[in-house]
Amino acid sequence: MPETENLHGANLIDAVYGDGPPPPDDPAECYFEASKLHLRALSWDVPGGLALDQSEELQLLTQRAARSNPSREILPLPDPEPLSRDFAEVIDARRSSEDFGPGELPLPTLSGILERSYRVRLVNGWPLRPVPSGGALYPLDLYVIVQRAGGLRPGLYHYDAFRHGLTWMREVDHETLHLATLQPEMARDATAILVIGASFWRSRFKYGQRALRFCLVEAGHLQQNILLLGTAYGLATRPIGGFLDDDFTANMDYDGVNEAPVYATLIGPPGDGSP
Ligand SMILES: Cc1cc2nc3c(=O)[nH]c(=O)nc-3n(C[C@H](O)[C@H](O)[C@H](O)COP(=O)(O)O)c2cc1C
Repeated sequence: MPETENLHGANLIDAVYGDGPPPPDDPAECYFEASKLHLRALSWDVPGGLALDQSEELQLLTQRAARSNPSREILPLPDPEPLSRDFAEVIDARRSSEDFGPGELPLPTLSGILERSYRVRLVNGWPLRPVPSGGALYPLDLYVIVQRAGGLRPGLYHYDAFRHGLTWMREVDHETLHLATLQPEMARDATAILVIGASFWRSRFKYGQRALRFCLVEAGHLQQNILLLGTAYGLATRPIGGFLDDDFTANMDYDGVNEAPVYATLIGPPGDGSP
């Protein structure tokens, strides 16, 4: 029996809270309390629910849930590389890699990852996506920081999930971003860094304080799709949740308050030491 079998995670409670209760203004506890739902206060807790039910205009607006850059040229993505690996095998094989090898990320592979993780598809006339989203509001956008992919100019691209294409945004400071992942070697070797950004207000107008929870939960859904697709294509992947926020934000088009990068993925061909 492993030595850790009888240890309970709750043993860490003392390490977090010390001798007494946390201060009444503990931000995490205040937020969690503020974001709870109560049956008798649902119209306060979910302030936009009624407005959305009653406004056709608002319903139409929310169906275009994405950042859009209509004045910028869009680079259409090719047909996705087919997938053939067994689903159970993919689930079993997914690991956070520490070793990214040389080579490029082919465009059809990138296309497959973006299409099957976040592309809009019409289902009974509704623009839905491969991942679930609270109220189908889709507060997230997906960005690709290209380093070596499909012969593309390195830099920041926005994934247009309606048109399945990439919009060139700008050059980025790759070295700063590598350091900002706190895994500079891995980030440097990856062919691309996918960044999930959240426009919190796209969920918050309806769900109030609950929206932040939804955005983060949904980022997990999207991330899992990305990781499994990467694995299915034989790529190495590593999720990055601990990054220097200001450095990431400064290299993107987010203000870091109402909209912000929340999660990233390193992706690329595996190196010799990959699991
Ligand atoms: C929310 C979250 C945040 C993470 N952030 C980082 C990170 O910032 N840097 C990193 O190297 N790995 C990060 N990881 C990867 C974990 O270290 C890894 O998932 C864990 O060691 C278990 O290994 P496995 O993914 O191979 O199962 C993160 C994973 C999750 C789920």
